[in-house]
Amino acid sequence: MPKIAVIPGDGIGVDVTKEALKVLHTMNGIFDFDLQLNSFDYGAERYLKDGTTLPESGFEELRDNYDAIYLGALGDPRVPDMKHAKDILLGLRFRLDLYVNHRPIRLIHEKLCPLKNKKPKDLNFVVFRENTEGFYVGVGGNLKKGTPDEIAVQESINTRKGVERIIEHAFNYAEEHDLKTVTMSDKSNALQYEGGLWQRVFEEVGKRHKSIETNHWYIDALAMQMIKKPEQFEVVVTNNMFGDIITDLGAQLQGGLGLGASGNINPETNKGLFEPVHGSAPKYAGKNIANPMGAILSAEMMLDFLGFGKESKIITDAITDAIEHDWTSVDLGGSLGTEEVGDYIVRYIEENAKKPT
Ligand code: NAD
Ligand code: IPM
Ligand code: MN
Repeated sequence: MPKIAVIPGDGIGVDVTKEALKVLHTMNGIFDFDLQLNSFDYGAERYLKDGTTLPESGFEELRDNYDAIYLGALGDPRVPDMKHAKDILLGLRFRLDLYVNHRPIRLIHEKLCPLKNKKPKDLNFVVFRENTEGFYVGVGGNLKKGTPDEIAVQESINTRKGVERIIEHAFNYAEEHDLKTVTMSDKSNALQYEGGLWQRVFEEVGKRHKSIETNHWYIDALAMQMIKKPEQFEVVVTNNMFGDIITDLGAQLQGGLGLGASGNINPETNKGLFEPVHGSAPKYAGKNIANPMGAILSAEMMLDFLGFGKESKIITDAITDAIEHDWTSVDLGGSLGTEEVGDYIVRYIEENAKKPT
């Protein structure tokens, strides 16, 4: 019985998680996955009420008693320093050592792409974002804070092991999926210490995977190439910060941030946290406006991770069908609410899923 901890979180995280749960319950009913879904109220509301972000006992429970975590989004204007999100989201990524942030960039229908003449086959790659190091580790500090002489230091931490394992994962993924190239992106022309390490490790790991061609772009040029010639990419591997930025860009190439899906994974310990790429979009919260598709596609990634990859593909089919028929929210040019999009996807699955005999 796979146990899933659900953290809807803040803002539209709550709205889209409701739809993802509808889809998961539908899949569970049809395919007898025997999923157990338990919700947790970690987020801004709880933090503002009693100061709880992610309590130690709660962390241990998620770590020891659950097969996967599903998260909506975190972020609330009432918590400007994102204290709760740092403890909950970055806390889970770091403390569960979820070093692979897997973010597919896949065009579902050409009408959604802001680029001219690009077809689904032209935009179909994955980004592996290093998820436990870089600028995100919180090493640094301020000196003479609030004075004209203030100094702010934010260190980017890159360990040999950390760089090697994400690059190795990218090559393994390419091999397992019959892909030909892995592209690494850094900024080694300006950031020579971390970039140098990424360069050396990429070359070394590449030599262990002789069937895979290696490519490299500096991150600024990679951003440009994602617009100019996205069809060249199959697997992109990069650090935490650059991966964050280019996956928002990639999400927009697919049609919008509301479509981006992701998994935070540790392939060795088999821990995983799944969430849409977007944030809590406070101005849309609770208004039945947000696009739930990225959240629902993240639920599909989670089912795949739990071993239900064959069955879960129907979720992409349902979303493709909804987009083809303009059964979409306003961000994709449709006129439906969050719930109506979710209902359509549920209905498609109910009508088209082949029940196990
Ligand atoms: P955001 O992703 O919340 O929203 C940016 C814009 O993208 C929105 O204004 C909206 O126009 C569009 N958008 C995003 N998701 C959408 C959806 N599902 N449907 C339709 N349109 C959508 O980013 P932001 O405004 O920079 O951040 C808001 C808060 O969310 C901040 O507190 C930020 O730190 C947080 N955040 C959290 C996560 C996370 O929990 N993983 C990710 C990104 C941002
Ligand atoms: C994401 C988000 C987070 C990140 C924020 C909320 C800390 O932007 O998941 O992409 O930068 O990783
Ligand atoms: Mn981001």
